[in-house]
Amino acid sequence: MTTPLRRYGVGARWYDVLSGERWVYGAGREAGIRLLDLHPGDVVIDLGCGTGLNFAGLVAAVGPTGRVIGIDRSADMLAVARRRVSAAGWDAVVTLLAADAATVDPREILAATGGRGADAVFSTYALSVIPQRDEAWRRACAAVRPGGRAGIVDMQRPRGRWRPLDPLALLACATGGADIDAHPWHLLERDAADPREIGRAERKGGHLVAVAADLADRVTLGADSA
Ligand SMILES: C[S@@+](CC[C@H](N)C(=O)[O-])C[C@H]1O[C@@H](n2cnc3c(N)ncnc32)[C@H](O)[C@@H]1O
Repeated sequence: MTTPLRRYGVGARWYDVLSGERWVYGAGREAGIRLLDLHPGDVVIDLGCGTGLNFAGLVAAVGPTGRVIGIDRSADMLAVARRRVSAAGWDAVVTLLAADAATVDPREILAATGGRGADAVFSTYALSVIPQRDEAWRRACAAVRPGGRAGIVDMQRPRGRWRPLDPLALLACATGGADIDAHPWHLLERDAADPREIGRAERKGGHLVAVAADLADRVTLGADSA
C-alpha cells in the first residue's frame, strides 16, 4: 500500500501530469481563488501547497507587493514547487515552509508573514488528505489577522448526470489518499464570521466544491495545540 509520504514523495515529479489538473481539478482552484477575493499586497497562506499549482493564480491576485506562503510537509512536493517559483521569477513573492500542518507552531507561520498575520488562508485538495484536518486548519487560521479571509476547495461524490463518474472520482481520491467524504468545507462553515455570507461554487457535476468567507475574529486552537 502507498503511504501518504511516499505518494507525495517519489510521486511528486508525476503529480502535475497525473493529477487531472487540466480536465478536472484546475476548475476548482480557479473558482476558489476568485471567491477568495484577494487584493494587491495581500499575504495568503497556501496550506498543503504541494507542487504549487495555486501559485500562478495567487501571485496574480496579490501582485509583486503581496506574499504567498506555501506550507507542505513533503520535501519532494516542495522541491517541485521551488522549481516552479524560480522558473516563474516569483522568489520575492513566494515563501515555502516545510512543515506538518497538523503540528506546526502557528508562530512559525506568523513569522513567515513578517509578523503582521496573513490576510487569507487557502487550501485546495489537501484537507481531505490530512487526517487531522481540523487541527491543521486551526493552526493555519491562527496565523490569519482578525477579519481575514479563508477559502477551501475540495472534493465530494459527483451528483446528477455526473453520478456515473462516481467510481472514477473515488479512484482519483484513493490514488491521492483523499477521503472523498471528508467535506472539509464544513470547517469554514463553522469558522466563518457569518455563515450566511459564505461564497460557494461547484464544478464538474458537484465533484469540486469551492467556498470562501471572512473568518470569525479569532479561530482558537484546540486544547492540544499550544
Ligand atoms: C492532493 S495534494 C494537493 C496539493 C495542492 N494543494 C494542489 O491543489 O495541487 C495534497 C498535499 O497535501 C500535503 N500534505 C498531506 N498531509 C500534510 C500535512 N500533515 N501537512 C502538510 N502538508 C500535507 C501533501 O504532501 C500534498 O502535497
